[in-house]
Amino acid sequence: MTRFIKVYSEDGVGVIQFDRPKVLNALNREMVDEIVTQLEAFDLNESIRVIVLKGSEKAFAAGADIEEMMEETSLSLELLNPFAQWDRISLIKKPLLAAVNGFALGGGFELALHCDLIIASEDAKFGFPEVKLGILPGAGGTQFLTKVMGVRRALEWIWLGEQMTAREALHYGVINRSVAPELVEEETMRLAHQLSKQAPISLRLIKEAVHAAADLSLLEGKMLERKNFYLAFSSEDQKEGMRAFTEKRTPSFRGK
Ligand code: HXC
Repeated sequence: MTRFIKVYSEDGVGVIQFDRPKVLNALNREMVDEIVTQLEAFDLNESIRVIVLKGSEKAFAAGADIEEMMEETSLSLELLNPFAQWDRISLIKKPLLAAVNGFALGGGFELALHCDLIIASEDAKFGFPEVKLGILPGAGGTQFLTKVMGVRRALEWIWLGEQMTAREALHYGVINRSVAPELVEEETMRLAHQLSKQAPISLRLIKEAVHAAADLSLLEGKMLERKNFYLAFSSEDQKEGMRAFTEKRTPSFRGK
């Protein structure tokens, strides 16, 4: 049983819905643990091809749980190392989509930034208010945002701790799409279902190669892409995809 998330699946799409609405889905450790455990379960579940994270109407997540965090010390954090949990999110191999309504702040923004695609409501608010608490982002926020927007822009946002509108987030390439609030879920599921029809092995090999581009040198990235290209030719889906093309029919991919 989970206490802070709801989980369901729909036609190959696994959904994790945050469920702490009274505190705008503030992320306590138990909740992060539930999210990560469920992500890994979906990642291993053959019937799931795409994963969606979503919050509630008012908030995707308003950050780490400040009440829980305020008693921490440097040593308690060092010993507990809570961010090791977050590293596991980066190891999820299936497409991971965030559907963002309302606030995605601090750790909530970082959670969205761990996703491959972000679909947000036009009135969504993103930001890193940590500076106002006398701390800084700790689950990769300074790194993700800088890789997306560049040093100067990231510094300005993280230093000022101001909220970024969906329009600004879209402009800077922080999110993929911005839609009317009532359409966020529909648009995200439409995209998720579209992806769930693509060849699953291609999707995971593409995910690994594209993310590598942000971290590796061009040559290393090309080598990884090449290895994945060769690997794709071991799949039945490659045979099916090419055969379907020559037979002028829609391919049916099985993820094998
Ligand atoms: C604990 C939180 C919370 C949080 C909101 N709440 N955010 N509780 N941790 N991060 C609680 C409020 O205390 C309040 O509880 C209830 O949720 C509703 O929030 P309000 O403030 O009344 O709502 P509103 O006026 O609409 O303002 C929304 C808001 C504001 C702008 C999002 O709540 C806010 O500024 N929240 C904190 C955002 C933040 O600083 N996030 C970064 C955290 S640090 P009660 O009981 O009063 O109703 C962080 C570090 C990341 O994330 C490290 C890596 C994980």
